[in-house]
Amino acid sequence: MCGIMGVVGADDAVRVLVDGLQHLSYRGYDAAGVAVMAGRDGQRRIEIRKTAGTLDKLKSLLSGQPVNGRIGIGHTRWATHGAPTDCNAHPHTDKSGKLAVVHNGIIENERVLRQKLAAEGFEFRSQTDTEVVAHLVSKYLGETCDLHCALRKTLDVISGAYALVVMYIDEPDRIYAARKDSPLVIGLGQGAGYVASDIPALLPHTREMLLLEDGDVARVTGDEVIVWDRNDNITVRQSKTIMWDQEAADKGEHTTFMDKEMDEQADAAARLLAAPLMRHEAPSRVVFVGCGSAYHASMVGRELLGRLAGIPSDVMIASEMRYEPELSLEGTLCLAVSQSGETADTLAALRQAKRRGASAAAIVNAQDSSIAREAEAVQWMHAGPEIAVATTKGYTTQLLALLRLSLEWGRANGRLSASDAREWEGELGKLPELMRGALADRERAERFATAHIAPRLVFFIGRGLDYATALEGALKFKEISYLNAEAYAAGELKHGPIALIESDALVVAVCTQSRLTAKTVSNIREVKARGARVLALCRESDEAGLRAEADEVWTLPDAPDEVMPLLAILPLQRLAYETAILRGCSVDKPRNLAKSVTVE
Ligand code: F6R
Repeated sequence: MCGIMGVVGADDAVRVLVDGLQHLSYRGYDAAGVAVMAGRDGQRRIEIRKTAGTLDKLKSLLSGQPVNGRIGIGHTRWATHGAPTDCNAHPHTDKSGKLAVVHNGIIENERVLRQKLAAEGFEFRSQTDTEVVAHLVSKYLGETCDLHCALRKTLDVISGAYALVVMYIDEPDRIYAARKDSPLVIGLGQGAGYVASDIPALLPHTREMLLLEDGDVARVTGDEVIVWDRNDNITVRQSKTIMWDQEAADKGEHTTFMDKEMDEQADAAARLLAAPLMRHEAPSRVVFVGCGSAYHASMVGRELLGRLAGIPSDVMIASEMRYEPELSLEGTLCLAVSQSGETADTLAALRQAKRRGASAAAIVNAQDSSIAREAEAVQWMHAGPEIAVATTKGYTTQLLALLRLSLEWGRANGRLSASDAREWEGELGKLPELMRGALADRERAERFATAHIAPRLVFFIGRGLDYATALEGALKFKEISYLNAEAYAAGELKHGPIALIESDALVVAVCTQSRLTAKTVSNIREVKARGARVLALCRESDEAGLRAEADEVWTLPDAPDEVMPLLAILPLQRLAYETAILRGCSVDKPRNLAKSVTVE
């Protein structure tokens, strides 16, 4: 969600900024812009080029109106305050045009500050909360001596979440960065310094990176970085060498990131199986928090934890949990599930749980992310970088991490016998191969998508663990193909939603849970009787029975019930993908969505 790139000391700042923004475009955006320090000495000025729309639009603007310089800041904006227009695009400047600001996050007291500043004579050109920051810094620059002091004073009066980068004509050899609840990484290059909201933007320039912490302010020049902590004391933030390769974050021979990431799922599972488990004793009670797909994974986690380890748990949508007033979590482990590790609601829910007496652990993919740092123990997902907005390998590695933790805690608290545990090891060993098998049938998904290119509505139904798969399948469908897809616990159809079923409805019935398949078959009959077309997803061993009921049957390899969510989601991801491609949708960057949801 929004991308920030800044550079000091580049031969061609514009190229570095646009290239960096390109690497961040997976986060989702609807406008882009750069500000560059141009000219010398008395002639120095900040040149801004910004536009609503894509980075290609920004590039053509820049080729029509080129600008050169060694220092600059850039931004891809995902609209929160005001429509995606040229004017609302970042960077924003003060009235004098001597300073420029880019910002990720939300300034929550923007309205009050805007009114105050307007009363003091500051004129606003945009509807953004960011422009408030530009005017505040400008105001304090008028009162104080330097950009550092002015920025600090600004941070003292704004509330909310932010990653900010500021440049100022009178301090032409540096940029300032500040963060609170929104990620910001500093890259240490040879004679150049960089700032970005995520690591992939910096990898073409350097592997030496320094991660800012909440409340930090950093001054970045070509030769050094100075960091002040939240109390304005100079502090040392240890730099890290990033080991993973840029190729891991590139498409390779795939046409889209989502296609690549779906294909990588079996390898990601194998990697996670070979990795150590987080060290944490078996908890007596767990509350899961997550959003979207991570919430669906948590639903599976709750079931697995109960079955395999006898541990009771609740699942809460993070955005709901963070405002739950009556919650007491003494003696509970809060397990936050997040691919990005930066989802604002999940981070806030984890903090809320800690305040309510819970201990905190997390299942996270992105190293050094805010949620990983907030948790006392972290189970890494080992999925590798996930760029496509719709999660695929993130989801399956979350499921696998939850399965492994449930088994480990079941073994530790005696719920699983040693021989059960050995048997499970054998089952998990087979998983990557089973996933490869379930991933293989692209052509079939393509054929099915072609035949059902625009159903009026798509229902996903299932029971038990299949209900979580139905929810995740429907989410994939709606977010990338924009079809009207909804998921229901199959037994709920008759309590309302079945009123929508007519002959133009498509029902995807997930029937992988051995105890529940016969029950879901009854629901298949109910929708068939009302004219719906039914695609059933089942194990090979149930194929014959399902053939007699559904219009089309896709089979999955036989595996224990607890493993089936990892297999059943694979054809549903592929089906959503092929449908989206046929419908001409932008699969990697669906409209209105962002990869890393760092606002509330
Ligand atoms: C759906 C999807 C989202 C994320 C959600 C949480 O395909 O990707 O629903 O699952 O925004 O993101 P993380 O896991 O990064 O916290």
